[in-house]
Amino acid sequence: MRHALIKLAPLIFQLVIPALAAEAPAAFDYRPQKISSADRPAVAELYVNTCASCHGPSGEGNGNGLALYGSKDPLANAAAMHFGRKQPPPLEIVMPAYGVQSLLTQTQIGQLAEYVAGFRPPWP
Ligand code: HEC
Repeated sequence: MRHALIKLAPLIFQLVIPALAAEAPAAFDYRPQKISSADRPAVAELYVNTCASCHGPSGEGNGNGLALYGSKDPLANAAAMHFGRKQPPPLEIVMPAYGVQSLLTQTQIGQLAEYVAGFRPPWP
């Protein structure tokens, strides 16, 4: 029995420990990043698919008070996306904790944080 466990030790180090580490909630590790013109269409598509249901296709909201026109600080944007947010009453809409729950990668959060900081209202 002891022998068998010793033989298994390398396997435990190689497979089990990294698997456990991967389960740990992601730490907040945002770095500012410019979106390259090559990446831009994918970031825009990710925004439309993941965020527009609440924040509107161009950050105007969906009649729910969730416009992103004031969100000019990419670091603050990344923090909101990483930890999630809850809107005050009466609507109390909840944004998922995209980082903590590993729903998006650090790169995706960094790029989206930059992307939404670029939203401009249609009025001058
Ligand atoms: C289910 C609805 C929902 C979805 C989907 C959603 N959000 Fe949010 N978001 C919210 C709510 C609610 C808040 C908090 C608003 C408040 O505090 O009044 C918020 C806040 C934010 C803020 C902070 C705004 C500020 O300046 O305080 C940013 C930035 C943001 N969201 C970006 C995103 C991005 C990018 C996505 C897509 C990955 C996304 N959200 C998806 C509901 C959502």
